[in-house]
Amino acid sequence: MDYKKKMLRDDALKGKTIVVTGGGSGLGKAMTTYFLELGANVVITSRNIEKLQAVKIELEEKTGGNVLPVQCDVRHYDQVEAMVKASVEEFGKVDVLLNNAAGNFISPTERLSANAFDTIIDIVLKGTKNCTLAFGKHWIDKKEIDKVVLNIVTTYAWTGSAYVVPSATAKAGVLALTRSLAVEWAKYGMRFNAIAPGPFPTKGAWDRLLPGDLKEKFDLAKKVPLKRVGEHQELANLAAYLVSDFSAYVNGEVITIDGGEWLKGAGQMNMLEEIPEEMWDMLEAMIRSKKGK
Ligand code: HXC
Ligand code: NAP
Repeated sequence: MDYKKKMLRDDALKGKTIVVTGGGSGLGKAMTTYFLELGANVVITSRNIEKLQAVKIELEEKTGGNVLPVQCDVRHYDQVEAMVKASVEEFGKVDVLLNNAAGNFISPTERLSANAFDTIIDIVLKGTKNCTLAFGKHWIDKKEIDKVVLNIVTTYAWTGSAYVVPSATAKAGVLALTRSLAVEWAKYGMRFNAIAPGPFPTKGAWDRLLPGDLKEKFDLAKKVPLKRVGEHQELANLAAYLVSDFSAYVNGEVITIDGGEWLKGAGQMNMLEEIPEEMWDMLEAMIRSKKGK
């Protein structure tokens, strides 16, 4: 099976301008690359302008597309407003906002300072709110329609998760924002969706979340029923579909792409997977013998 294959046809995003927060690294960079290959202009934003400028050169050379790098810390509304302005000045309009930027650290919650907790909430929830509000107001003001906001959450947005509590709290808020505005702002011609990725190896997330030999100790692929981690192109395929006109009737949805990981943790009897095939005859006989007793 070739799950690294590119899904959409070459011009699927032609004429669209897409803003990707955190577009200079990890999954943001992978999605940016594919959007460019599909004909979109892409604005990549993060705190580190040198990194963004290097990625612009790399991706323009690789794809022949147009990239605008903009320094913007999503925690600060004035910087976000300046980013909206710079994007519109460069490309005339913006069609898609992809809220991808995030911060996270693993820690017992009682070890976190109030400022540490706030830092994650501010990047993930407040940052997504800042970008969404700034673009939403802009589109409403200009009476521009057919706009898309795509938010990257996690599967623990609805299950919660120990040891990443600020991130789980913030991602749950982002999911609520997604579903709420999918209804409220549909009348302005906007639609809102989210993607909940399972484990997709990236330097940013994995070096921080599983430092040192924790990567070997907790092999995340083993937690996935499909027994592998995600490929960046698989996520890029889904994101490209969700920001394209092909998904025009998809609104307020969160699509999980995790190989079945979170459900494996949830199903009460899923641990029976540990039982070897040859034991089932014996177990069935034992269960049947209880009939009528
Ligand atoms: C506890 C920590 C900490 C840690 C920093 N702090 N690191 N506390 N454990 N590991 C505390 C600091 O002491 C400080 O509190 C406060 O947090 C802010 O720290 P700063 O260094 O000033 O913050 P900043 O420079 O803004 O950096 C943000 C960051 C950083 C989140 C801390 O890691 C970052 O830039 N991350 C971006 C990349 C990232 O995290 N990607 C992962 C996304 S993956 P005090 O009280 O001392 O002032 C994801 C889902 C993955 O979201 C799911 C995978 C399966
Ligand atoms: P990553 O490589 O660490 O990317 C995070 C990005 O956010 C970086 O480009 C970073 O750029 C940017 N960023 C951080 N703080 C910012 C701020 N204050 N303002 C603006 N930009 C900021 O992580 P990733 O793995 O690609 O994650 C991408 C998204 O997928 C995140 O939303 C994450 O929660 C989600 N996710 C990832 C996984 C996974 O397995 N990788 C699983 C579930 C969900 P700068 O440092 O230059 O600012």
